[in-house]
Amino acid sequence: MSTPEKPEIALEKRHSEEARLFSSSTARNLPGIFDVLQPLLSQGARVLEIGSGTGEHGHAFCAARQDLDWQCSDPDDRSRESQAAWLEALEGDCRNPIDLDLTKLGWFDGVAGFDALVCMNVIHISPWAVARGLAAGARAMLAPGGLVFLYGPYMEGERTAESNRAFDQSLKSRNPEWGVRTLDSVERVFADCGFKLCQRVEMPANNLSLVFRRDNDDAAS
Ligand SMILES: C[S@@+](CC[C@H](N)C(=O)[O-])C[C@H]1O[C@@H](n2cnc3c(N)ncnc32)[C@H](O)[C@@H]1O
Repeated sequence: MSTPEKPEIALEKRHSEEARLFSSSTARNLPGIFDVLQPLLSQGARVLEIGSGTGEHGHAFCAARQDLDWQCSDPDDRSRESQAAWLEALEGDCRNPIDLDLTKLGWFDGVAGFDALVCMNVIHISPWAVARGLAAGARAMLAPGGLVFLYGPYMEGERTAESNRAFDQSLKSRNPEWGVRTLDSVERVFADCGFKLCQRVEMPANNLSLVFRRDNDDAAS
């Protein structure tokens, strides 16, 4: 029997110091993301990060907010190794990074007990199934009021930045299943799962932070 092919996984440029990986793009976007996301996380919030990459985001949040219960995840083994090494440098107990691939149906089975889902720079550099899976997972695991935070570039019709159009083309030339997503399509996929876009924050380099909250009513099922 042949083994199913693993989907291509895109990783940004990284350098390593032993187990820890460093990404200059992560270092650049971290302060802006921190300023937007940190005040949204309640005391003791349980956060599941999807596609945690090097682990630098998780490390920065846990270092600054020791009350947070932050779970890193990634389908890439080397990335999870780096996440574990970054978290090891912190005082206190941290969860071990877990292997989550959002292209898998039911990826969220057995993953529970979170107040927030955080996903940065992932949905454009992976198949659309990842955005759909993220919304379905949010629906399955977050209670009303639960929060989803997304960060990355988006297509927004005529207001789309030239750099994002060019990025979209270059992603598609690498893999036709990738591409900068339209904000409309992302809003729709979350609305179908009962989440409303509550905040759209313009970030440096034509990126957006998006905050979705689960509606209190249970119309979407
Ligand atoms: C461009 S990196 C972003 C890393 C980190 N979130 C950041 O902003 O620095 C994309 C990450 O998404 C992860 N990824 C790719 N495909 C994925 C999938 N199907 N499910 C979950 N994560 C995925 C990759 O392994 C990689 O770590």
